[in-house]
Amino acid sequence: MADSTVKKKSDSPEKVMEKIVSLCKRRGFVFQSSEIYGGLGACYDYGPLGVELKKNIKDAWWDFMTKEHDNIVGIDAAIMMHPKTWEASGHVASFSDPMIDDKTSKKRYRADHLIEGYIRQLEKKNKVADAERVQAEFVKAQNAENMPKALYDLIVAEQIKSPDSGAFNWTEVRQFNLMFKTELGAVADDASILYLRPETAQGIFVNFHTVRESARLKIPFGIAQIGKAFRNEIVKGNFIFRMIEFEQMEMQYFIKPGAQKEAFSMWQEKRFNWYADYLGINTENLVWYQHDKLAHYADAAYDIKYKFPFGTEEIEGIHSRTDFDLRRHQEYSGKNMEYVEPDGKERYIPYVVETSCGCDRLFLMTLCDAYEEDVVDEEERTSLRLHPKLAPVKAGIFPLMKKDGLPEAAEKLLKDVQKYFKVQYDEAGAIGRRYRRQDEIGTPYCFTIDHDTLKDDTVTVRDRDTTKQERINISQVKAYLTDKISE
Ligand code: GAP
Repeated sequence: MADSTVKKKSDSPEKVMEKIVSLCKRRGFVFQSSEIYGGLGACYDYGPLGVELKKNIKDAWWDFMTKEHDNIVGIDAAIMMHPKTWEASGHVASFSDPMIDDKTSKKRYRADHLIEGYIRQLEKKNKVADAERVQAEFVKAQNAENMPKALYDLIVAEQIKSPDSGAFNWTEVRQFNLMFKTELGAVADDASILYLRPETAQGIFVNFHTVRESARLKIPFGIAQIGKAFRNEIVKGNFIFRMIEFEQMEMQYFIKPGAQKEAFSMWQEKRFNWYADYLGINTENLVWYQHDKLAHYADAAYDIKYKFPFGTEEIEGIHSRTDFDLRRHQEYSGKNMEYVEPDGKERYIPYVVETSCGCDRLFLMTLCDAYEEDVVDEEERTSLRLHPKLAPVKAGIFPLMKKDGLPEAAEKLLKDVQKYFKVQYDEAGAIGRRYRRQDEIGTPYCFTIDHDTLKDDTVTVRDRDTTKQERINISQVKAYLTDKISE
């Protein structure tokens, strides 16, 4: 159907973000955590519509991984793991960010973010040569043997000032471990220290053999997992983009050493296409970013970034992790992590290509991509142009009036379809207002029962994006929604 709406002139990116955050609170997508106590920074709760949207995003990922690939299976590992896991994985020694304190304001910053902000300012001022020079120095500093000192020296050389106080009164740069520690049992000693997992991936690595044997898998195969991860991040704004408690969707693909380049390209392509094909994201808003500095475990790493209103930022990492993790778990646990080819001729520790995205970031991206303001019948409206598969509510069901048996007929339709879809009944206010309420939460279709319905069993179906209406037989509503959602 052709789109008959008129797009509204766009607001500034800051204003757009403000409106999305306000919509999230007003309509029950996302709330600040423990708000009655003033909130807890970087922690958020998902409301009634938020949980539905988040679940639909997770289902799209889970189904793609575990249903469309017959060599990928899922697990749900515990958040708490044996503390040796994190020694083996390298997180105890090196999962840290370089932090610097402004002695004037007592505020703490990530040194690398400070320099990135400074480069962005130079670009904004059109000082292109300076921006390129500092960028080159920044890459060198990140790869330096004493990275914290190299970052500090660059901050001093460029006289980078504190964004909040404007002072140039820095401490040295220190590494700050991002893992949350907790204690097991009543007696606190070194042996009882546990960590909240900072990534879900390690739950997959330690289960490599148990999953492979129980599911009778042969290389290449993958293990997928969705679950919470925790990082003690120094967080600055941007809503749910960077949280201390968040959800990851990770898949480790186990391959023969030497096959990593081919597997890496395959997963790069699959993951990029997934955003358009399964979430309906406009791929013009997605960009590839190649890492200059590799994590301790990787031999290649790319991110997919999304053009958020507040900047182009990472949503997913695709990493070639070599045999680092399995080899280290073999070393630290004393258990053999080798795979033996079915013909028994070759044995090796498998290599791994990982795809890792943050569910909360995909949630925010989906909202930003779908958010639209336009003018319909000379009236401004806000809509979320979500793919019907992702929409928290699939259909609104309305009686045209609260009389003449119309509510009863609408309730009958509601009962028939709510077994299959999340739908909402609404009889309050003018029909136009009811449409607007559904548009704002992304409901793709609204069905209205009127006097003709009682005569000929037809209903009006109205499309969220085009606002066009057509009449279909009431017995076709379920099939209509099924078709549209699976399109
Ligand atoms: N296992 C690899 C790994 O954890 P990562 O790049 O640190 O890699 C993967 O994280 C994804 O997890 C990121 O692309 C991002 O989407 C999400 N993520 C990481 N830290 C996050 C945070 N503090 N808040 C929300 N999402 C986060």
